[in-house]
Amino acid sequence: MTERRKRLYVQTFGCQMNVYDADQMVTGLAPMGYGPARSAHEADLILVVTCAIREKADQKVFSYLGRLEALKSRRPGLKIAVGGCVAQGQGRRMLSRAPHVDAVFGTHAVGRLPAIIRRIEAGSGPVVDVAMDGDGDAFAPFTDPPADPGVARFVTIMQGCDNYCTYCVVPYVRGPETSRPPESVVAEVTGLVRAGVREVTLLGQNVNSYGVKEGLPGFPDLLGRVAGVRGLKRIRFTTSHPKDLSDGLIEAYRHIETLCPHIHLPVQSGSDRVLKRMNRKYDRKRYLERVAQLREARPGIAVTTDIIVGFPGETDADFQQTLDFLDAVRFDGLFAFKYSDRPQAPAARFSDPVPEPVKAERLNTLLAAQTAITGESYARLVGTEADVLVEGPARRNGAAAGTQWTGRSPENRIVNFTAAPPASPIAPGMTVRVAIAEALAHSLRGTAIPLDAPADARKGEHTHAA
Ligand code: 5AD
Ligand code: SF4
Repeated sequence: MTERRKRLYVQTFGCQMNVYDADQMVTGLAPMGYGPARSAHEADLILVVTCAIREKADQKVFSYLGRLEALKSRRPGLKIAVGGCVAQGQGRRMLSRAPHVDAVFGTHAVGRLPAIIRRIEAGSGPVVDVAMDGDGDAFAPFTDPPADPGVARFVTIMQGCDNYCTYCVVPYVRGPETSRPPESVVAEVTGLVRAGVREVTLLGQNVNSYGVKEGLPGFPDLLGRVAGVRGLKRIRFTTSHPKDLSDGLIEAYRHIETLCPHIHLPVQSGSDRVLKRMNRKYDRKRYLERVAQLREARPGIAVTTDIIVGFPGETDADFQQTLDFLDAVRFDGLFAFKYSDRPQAPAARFSDPVPEPVKAERLNTLLAAQTAITGESYARLVGTEADVLVEGPARRNGAAAGTQWTGRSPENRIVNFTAAPPASPIAPGMTVRVAIAEALAHSLRGTAIPLDAPADARKGEHTHAA
């Protein structure tokens, strides 16, 4: 029995794991009558899924909650519940900083969210639940596949982290690393594919240590099982820790066709001295070796990374090594961050902070260096073809309706393309071969190759099927 329809608005900050958790929350609250609200202004319930990875993320959460205070004073019936990493870390303290919040629920309390919401609906007063034990399947307490899941979805396979990089708050907030049983992962993926999903991204802080603690078969084995789900076209995963990147995973890139030729492998710094102080447990030589092996196993594999600039004690010479590292690896993309103190993490107590303006300058230098590299590699793609998994329509000024589409290449590059007759009709979930005509800063643009184009107009096999 479902109840009266109520409107739910979800504001998600941070990483893909929060996106996954937010989807779980939506699924879990649907039987209570909650459907989507178009904006926070028309919602009966607002869920804020928070991120604590850097100070800026943390600040964003509180400034967003500040804005909700005004909304709530106009509409006292509105309920606000805060989940995610800030909620987990702050617990009850959250209520003193944001007294208009009705519920604070931690990263392990997603399964209890319907009960928490029932309590606040019944006028219980503020509820705080940051216990670290999950209910039922702690990873995916709500198993109903969503009605309209889209083409690509995240699936969490691990929670927590045991690595204790000295800058990172995750092990303190999300707790010890635990792996989800493979049967549960495969069951979820199977349900998603039945509901129309074609691509899944398996999520964990360090997927390479999947199952190790629990004595389960390892990550390459899990990839093999997920690849066995019929109808699934593409598998991705994130994030991978370089220290645990196994030979088995490199072999998986050789043998599992649906495993996309892309790896996100955060290096954090190109200086061995800094890597040591970060407690990363690999050096640049080892990282370079692994990248070479991956490229040998799967030619053309895209390698992306995360880099922190201005870690305590990082000298100009250390930073120069990071810049040199960019040239040595030639990453296909990177996320760069200014180091930010997290009070729980040990680096916050290191005595040699880098001044803010130096951090800002290094960030700009790093981003400019990568922009040049990405520009060159994207330019080289003009004139090639890519198999694009279509995610949906794209907008383009002046273009006829139904002719503009967007999707991703196997290497995870965004490809926007035109599909005008004689190209066959396009729908999300199809894989379409696209001739790349133009390279932009963060995307490629091209034209769908018609199914019946003469063979000499096409290189390789065409996969125009749904
Ligand atoms: N300061 C800056 N960046 C950080 N990251 C994690 N913790 C911090 C911090 N304290 C970055 C790392 C990680 C990414 C998700 O966030 O690069 O890979
Ligand atoms: Fe944080 Fe390091 Fe764990 Fe990643 S591996 S979540 S950076 S402690």
